[in-house]
Amino acid sequence: MPYADLVNLALYDPDYGFYMRGGRAGRRGDFITSPEVGPLFGHVVSRAIDAEWDRLGQPDDFVVVEVGAGPGSLARSILAASPRCGECLRYLAVEQSAAQRAHHPNGVVSLGQLEPDEIADGITGVVLANELLDNLAFTPIRWRGDAVEFSSVDVASDGRLVEVFEAVPDQQTAHLSPSRSVVDQRDAGEWVRHMASEVVAKGRMIVIDYARLDTSEVEVRTYSEHGRAGDPLVALGTKDITVDLDLEALQRYAGAATAIVEQRDWLDQYGIADLVEEGRMIWEREAAVGGLEALRAKSRLREAESLCDPGGLGGFYVTEWVL
Ligand SMILES: C[S@@+](CC[C@H](N)C(=O)[O-])C[C@H]1O[C@@H](n2cnc3c(N)ncnc32)[C@H](O)[C@@H]1O
Repeated sequence: MPYADLVNLALYDPDYGFYMRGGRAGRRGDFITSPEVGPLFGHVVSRAIDAEWDRLGQPDDFVVVEVGAGPGSLARSILAASPRCGECLRYLAVEQSAAQRAHHPNGVVSLGQLEPDEIADGITGVVLANELLDNLAFTPIRWRGDAVEFSSVDVASDGRLVEVFEAVPDQQTAHLSPSRSVVDQRDAGEWVRHMASEVVAKGRMIVIDYARLDTSEVEVRTYSEHGRAGDPLVALGTKDITVDLDLEALQRYAGAATAIVEQRDWLDQYGIADLVEEGRMIWEREAAVGGLEALRAKSRLREAESLCDPGGLGGFYVTEWVL
C-alpha cells in the first residue's frame, strides 16, 4: 500500500464519511484551527484582503479563493467584518467535503473543487489556505548515499504492518534536498505550483500552516487523545499521522516566497492589537447593558491570546507569494 493511503486511512472520520484531519479525533480534536477560535482571526484576514485590493488598485472583480474552507468559519468571519472591497468581492469557498460545504455561509460561492469557469484566465485577487496543505498526503523517504528510497506499507507474515523502502526513478527526486529531506510532499508542492502559476494572474497567495523553514527540521508525528501517539503503523486508524510543512521544499515548486512570518507577527502587521483594544473599549462601555456585541468584544482578548500563542497557533507560519 502506498504510504499516502496509510495517511489518508488514518484521517478517515467515519462520522463525517470523508478524509479529514480536523475531525474530533487526534491532534485537531485537541487544538482547534484559528478560524474556529472565534471571529477575530477572520477580521484580521479581512484587513489583509483589503490591503491586497488596495495594492492592486481596487479592481472591480476581486476574487478570493479559499481552499480547504471546512465549514466556512473563516469566510463567515471575513464577510462579517465588512471588508471595504465587499462590493467588488467574489469569494470562492472550495471544500471537498459535501458535509462541510452544507455549512457554508450566504455570500460565498461554495465549490467542491475549483472549476476552470470560475477563474477564467486566472484571478486578480488572493488564494488563501489555512491548514490545508498539512492535510495532503506525503511519503516518508530514506537516503542511501545520493539515492533516495520511498516508503510504502506492507503486511508481514505475522500480520504486523511494516514499512518497505524502494528506489524511485531520478526524475521523481529533483525537488528533494539531497540527504536532508525526510518526506516527499509532492502534493503540497504541486498545489502551490498550480495556484501560483495557473490560478492567480495578479495578486497574492497566502498559506498558513504549522511548518519548518529548514528541510532538515521536518518531522513525521502522530497524535491521539491529547498527546503524541508513537509508531504510525501501530493501531492504524486511531491516530492522526501528520508532518510539518517543508517551506524550503515548497519554494522549489512555487518560487521564493515574498514573506514568511510567524502567525503572531502577521496578525500584528494587520492590526490585531487595535481590534483587541477596540473590543476592550466596547466591553467597558456595554458591559452593564450586556448583550451579544459586548460579549463578542470581550472575547477578542481571549481569542488574541490563542491566535498569538508562540507555542501554538501563533507559532504557525504565514507564507506569502506576491504574484
Ligand atoms: C484541517 S481542515 C481546515 C479547515 C479550515 N481551513 C480551518 O482552518 O478551519 C482541512 C480541510 O481541507 C479540506 N481539504 C483537504 N484537501 C482538499 C482539497 N484538495 N480540496 C478542497 N478541500 C480539501 C478537508 O476536507 C478539510 O475540511
